[in-house]
Amino acid sequence: MKALNLAKVFIYIFISVLFLNIKGKERKVINTKFKEGKTQHTLNLKKGGDIFCSISIVNESSILKLVGEEKIFASLIDNAGRKIKQFNSKEILISGEDLLSGKYFLAVNNEKPIKITVIDHFILCDGAFVEEEEEEEEEEFEGPAYKNPNLPIEERVDDLLSRMILQEKIDQLSGDPELDGFTTKYNDNLEIPQIKCVDCPHGVRWGNATFFPVPIAFGSTWDVDLVEEAAGVIGRECRAKGRNMGLAPCINLIRDPRGGRVFETYSEDSYMLSQMALAYVNGLQSQKVIATPKHYICNNSEDVRWNEAAVQIDERTLREVYLPIFRRPIVTGQAWSIMGAYNGVNGEYCCYNEWILREILKEELGFEGFVVSDWGACHSTISSIKAGLDLEMPRTNYYGEALLQAVEDGDVAVVYIDEAVRRILRAKFWAGLFDGIEPVDESVVESPEHISVALELAKKSIVLLKNEGSVLPLDEHSIDSIGVIGPNANTDFRGQGGSSAVTSSYAVNVLDGIINKVGDSIEVMYAEGCEIGTEHAPSYIPEITDSVKFQQALDVAEKSDVVILVVGLSGAIESEGNDRAYLIFPGVQEQLIKEVISRNSNAILVLKNGSPLTTVLEIDTMSLFEACPAILEAWYPGQEGGTAVADVIFGDYNPGGKLPLTFPKSASDLPTWDFDYTNDYTEGRGYRYFDKQGIEPLFPFGHGLSYTEFEYSNLQIIPMVSLNRQITVRVDVTNVGDMEGDEVVQLYIYDVERSTDDQPIKELKGFSRITLAPAERQTVEFKLTPEYLAFHDEQINFLVEPGRFDVMIGSSSRDIRLEGFFYITEEIRIR
Ligand code: BGC
Repeated sequence: MKALNLAKVFIYIFISVLFLNIKGKERKVINTKFKEGKTQHTLNLKKGGDIFCSISIVNESSILKLVGEEKIFASLIDNAGRKIKQFNSKEILISGEDLLSGKYFLAVNNEKPIKITVIDHFILCDGAFVEEEEEEEEEEFEGPAYKNPNLPIEERVDDLLSRMILQEKIDQLSGDPELDGFTTKYNDNLEIPQIKCVDCPHGVRWGNATFFPVPIAFGSTWDVDLVEEAAGVIGRECRAKGRNMGLAPCINLIRDPRGGRVFETYSEDSYMLSQMALAYVNGLQSQKVIATPKHYICNNSEDVRWNEAAVQIDERTLREVYLPIFRRPIVTGQAWSIMGAYNGVNGEYCCYNEWILREILKEELGFEGFVVSDWGACHSTISSIKAGLDLEMPRTNYYGEALLQAVEDGDVAVVYIDEAVRRILRAKFWAGLFDGIEPVDESVVESPEHISVALELAKKSIVLLKNEGSVLPLDEHSIDSIGVIGPNANTDFRGQGGSSAVTSSYAVNVLDGIINKVGDSIEVMYAEGCEIGTEHAPSYIPEITDSVKFQQALDVAEKSDVVILVVGLSGAIESEGNDRAYLIFPGVQEQLIKEVISRNSNAILVLKNGSPLTTVLEIDTMSLFEACPAILEAWYPGQEGGTAVADVIFGDYNPGGKLPLTFPKSASDLPTWDFDYTNDYTEGRGYRYFDKQGIEPLFPFGHGLSYTEFEYSNLQIIPMVSLNRQITVRVDVTNVGDMEGDEVVQLYIYDVERSTDDQPIKELKGFSRITLAPAERQTVEFKLTPEYLAFHDEQINFLVEPGRFDVMIGSSSRDIRLEGFFYITEEIRIR
């Protein structure tokens, strides 16, 4: 198999060289280079001038990389001449997924476009970016080779390593104990710059910064371009604050909705998480800030996050469910760092787990960056360095002196030290730290441009869970008074607690947002009603304790034409280090909802929370969610959250967000969950579990309404042909209402004939958020390569079995609008 692939590559080089030669002198290939790695083949087509095109054929996705001396402005153009992607960085990566549909053109710096053809996982390039020129003599660089910005990174690393003594090397491998807990040591002798970390999952935690909605809200936008843009903003603000490494994205899989960090991650679905992670890494690294997908791996719950005996997981589940989340940001996104989690996996802490770090991450995935420990997650000297933990943070504890001693005693070979240092130096060179990278001005922090991205993200993240009788949007002209009630109406939850906390110079809460929106035209009355309160079991409904506050709220409800009831959770209930024990509303919020909606039937429930909520009280045998006509999921929506909520309530923005996780009716509907982590990992989770068990959720994965309606038609499935190894699925979506709106079109697959009987009934394999004007129709296209269909069999082969695959296109996982199928005729083995 490997030999065949090798042969293909050689034939390909031969054809390319021939092809490029006969096409004209200016297209002559000056230099071709072929490198065979374990999982990666690289071919460099060096042209005259400084730009060359390097094509990496990685196992599952092809990556096209352009590197040039000058700034590159490039666009990917499809056959019809449409620009489908634009890049303006010096180095660009285009994943195989972008190129898979066949022929594209790549225009660089207004030069003649280069034609790119993808055939059976190989890319053919035709055409040159620049005319062939006489190679100019390079000006001689004065100084040590590692300081020469014209040399390849690896050469610079070699040179620098050769100049370092052991102590200097070891100093690279841990945080500086004298500093702030986020910075590594500076080397005066060789002038080696420091790594300067900062947490930044939804804004930079370093003084005031643009405060974005929490990451679960990023997920509910289902908009990868927007996530990339937001991460770009965050990256710029990192740079403005002098930080060069971002401790994000947090891509913990939501295994149970009570997990304390559910708000800080994106989804319960591995595929969706991997897409969000890639977008985030691309955005952050576009600003030359080192991205750190975290927490590797199986970091599911907070109460026992330090537990070494925690996760017991079989290899198949690890590879099916958890590894794909990290694969995409590492392999396609080329993240320069990754954070080892606190917990153990199969009895060994992640930060000294050789299987997890060295075998899977470094050897198998070909990760070239460095592994940083979560803060305090390094538990040993010898086994950690050998397993592949490169950087101990926040300070020197197990590394430093102890590591030096271990080398001197012959317990750790210097090659381990060199490898770890090499990885860290590589990232430093990539980030331009040795080359005096231009600083970003502080004025970008919380600039109007940056805040407008936070506002757009907040609007796009809001999910209209329910809208009976089209209560929403409100008509400003038919209302005289609004009651804004609830413990979350007047709070902004700027930080949300834990390491992802962000502070901004201001934040617009829901009450402010409503007042700003209606001005003097509508009377706005406010009552807090009650506090968020503390957690309690569903069987215990506490007494109403603060009757004055409570009574004020009921008075406001009676006097108002419409009530906006803002309830939910806070950082005291859900946060890093603190799982929720129950899913129900804390405190007396349920009583407040019940009494308010009993007095005013025009009540709009706005949820401000980072994870699902359930109810136990009833009104006339209806649950509170059933009794309430309209419900908005606003999450913790960031510094412009109140503006976004008001825009949605009054119809200035048509909501289009969708749930990135299942809302159960009750905690008893969830898979078993032992808080000691010894859970059955094969049992399934999220919508896969609900589908398999036939349980009706409160609101399903992918659910979200709009003020308009969308019609789905004309499902086309173009089956796989051996040459391009991809399936194309197309569907037409039409806005049949009278308001512009967004729809998230979702593609699910069912592998009907799989030989194992544990396959999910449906699995998300594609999604696309589109905006349509009234009566507008758009064709949405999805490409499925074998990797999207493959699974791990009992022997851990990653393969696609022949048989029937059902295709489901829906507006949510439980609102499937069109169905079809295709067959795979031969087994496809991927690895
Ligand atoms: C968290 C990480 C965070 C680190 C540094 C840890 O407690 O788990 O996500 O990056 O602290 O603040």
